[in-house]
Parts: sequence; C-alpha cells; structure tokens
Amino acid sequence: MTNHDLERMMDTSDEWIVTRTGIRERHIASPEEPTSVLGWRAAQAALADAGLEMDAIDFIVVATNTGDTVFPSTACRVQSQLTQRPVPSVDVQAGCTGWIYGIAMASAMIESGTFRRILVIAADKLSSITDYQDRTTAVLFGDAAGAIVLEGRQQAEHGVLASFLQADGSGGDLLSMPAGGSLLPATHQTVDERLHYLKMNGNDVFRFAVKAMPEAIEEGLRRAGLGVDQIDLLVPHQANQRIIDAAMRRFHLDPSRVTNNIARYGNTSVATIPVALWEARQEGRVKPGDVVVLVAFGAGLTWGSNVIRWGA
Ligand code: COA
Repeated sequence: MTNHDLERMMDTSDEWIVTRTGIRERHIASPEEPTSVLGWRAAQAALADAGLEMDAIDFIVVATNTGDTVFPSTACRVQSQLTQRPVPSVDVQAGCTGWIYGIAMASAMIESGTFRRILVIAADKLSSITDYQDRTTAVLFGDAAGAIVLEGRQQAEHGVLASFLQADGSGGDLLSMPAGGSLLPATHQTVDERLHYLKMNGNDVFRFAVKAMPEAIEEGLRRAGLGVDQIDLLVPHQANQRIIDAAMRRFHLDPSRVTNNIARYGNTSVATIPVALWEARQEGRVKPGDVVVLVAFGAGLTWGSNVIRWGA
C-alpha cells in the first residue's frame, strides 16, 4: 500500500507522509493471513536458514500485539502449524519492544540451561487494528514478521552479550487499543466509537521515543562493557525516520552503521528489527564478530536493547 493509495482513501499526501515519517509504502496481509500465518512463514524461513528441523526446537516465543485471538496464544497456533509434536510456546506482549524482550528472555533461558534452542518469532498484523479513517495513525503502520533461532553453545564468544529492558505503565494511554479486553469488553457502543482500533498521541510518543532510544543504547552497551564507537551495526526500531535520525545525530553514527528500511515497510511493530536484521545479512552488512545493537520503544510504555556479538 503506497502513500498514493492512501491519498485516495483519506485527506493526506505523499509529501506529508514522506516529510514527517520517511515512509513511502507498507505491506498489508490478506484476510487469509492472520498474525500466526505471518509468524509461521518467518519461522520456516529461519529454520531453513539455520539448517534445522522443528525437532531441534525446545521452546517457541512469539512477540506480538495483534495475536490471532485474545486466547489461545498465537505461539500455540504457530507451534501447531509447524509441528505435531508438543513444544512449550508462549506469547510476549511488550508493544513494539516485544522483539527485544523476546530475545532477552530466550537468551536468559538458554544461559540458565533450561532450553538449548529457542525459536523467537516476531509477527504483527497492525492493519487489523489500524483505523483507516484516522489519518494520524493509518499512514504509519504495516504488517510483517521475522524470526531467529537462538542456540546455546559452550564457551561461545558470540551471542547476546547484554540486554536492557524497561517499562513505565503510567504512559500506557499514549498508545493503546482501548476496547476488546476485560476493561472494556466488546459492545455495540465500543464498535460504534471505533475503540477496537489503535489510538495514539503521536506527539507525546515522539517525545518519549527520542529520549528512550538513546537511553536504551547507552544502558545496553554499558552492561556489555562496550562503547558507542564499538557499534558495527545499529538496528533501531523503524517508527519514524526523524526518530532514527535523532539517534544517529546524538551518537555521531554514520548511516552506513545504521539499518534503515522504513520507507519500504512503515512501522511493523515487533517485526521491524528482525526484518531489518535479515536484510542487513542479505546485503553482507553483518559479519561474524560484529557488535550489533538492537533497540526499540513502544506501547506500555516499553523500551530496551540487545547487544549482540554476531556469530556465524
Ligand atoms: N496527512 C496530512 N496531515 C496530517 C496527517 C496526515 N496523515 N496526520 C496529521 N496531519 C496534520 C495534523 O492534523 C496537524 O494539522 P494541524 O497543524 O492543522 O493541526 C499537522 O499535520 C501536524 O500534526 P502533528 O501530529 O504535529 O505532526 P508530527 O510532525 O508530530 O507527526 C507523527 C505526527 C505521528 C508522524 C509523529 O508525531 C510521530 O511519528 N510520533 C511517534 C509515533 C510512533 O513512533 N509511534 C509508534 C511507537 S512504536
């Protein structure tokens, strides 16, 4: 869905969207593709890339904010699409920071010896909760999924060196889907008032983001015992080009050290980071031994980072 497609649907312009956000197009999944199907496809691609079968996987984490249903979890749905063998599976919901939380939790479970190989999936179908009558949010979001296999190895010098996770629920109303949960169960009135769509105070979220991203980068690096000059690749959540630019300016990072694909996908919530990471790998921008910093912020409010020494 391009900006020009949106121009035909609402009072907006390609010029406004590009200038204010950097987004030119986003992808919209079909009605036959709920979040679990996007996640299942990403999981299959990650397994093939790792040269592994599902038999090798001990645990499944799905980061999402747009699960197929309130329950059962989307992770259980993805598990049953991937294999007939029971595998422990759980959803992680942490706004757009869900991928960062998922990686941090999975790597901690591997380090504790609880599991050896964990499939971490990020999948969101934001088009299912986007109000295409609200131009202040409709232009921002798209659908996507990504996945990674995390494996524990003895004496590995590669892997997740440190993570920083943070949350402040007092800002919860700045970005939320108000109805459909136990607080406001679905009624005719909630539907009429369009409360089953994402609502956002864009200006306040913007202000939060430009503070949260640098804090998460600095705190993740501090925990890993590294400095900003040691970052080989920064993979920031793709929410707004201006937020990414602010982080690059703050740390004097050259664009060659920062992934950027917001123009082509928009904000795909939990999936922005794994999609950007996958593209960076395809383009040969991540090499074994590189320090890769993943950083995100989102609904909750939540924010965080993973600092990784890239493996093979
Ligand atoms: N097309 C055209 N005009 C639009 C528009 C659109 N799609 N959306 C809003 N406008 C108008 C507004 O109505 C306003 O008009 P006014 O001045 O006549 O009142 C004007 O553009 C400026 O709106 P404003 O909200 O101040 O724009 P902005 O520069 O702050 O950009 C966001 C808005 C949403 C792009 C920006 O605040 C943002 O990116 N926030 C962070 C959002 C985010 O990251 N969310 C995800 C978190 S995971």
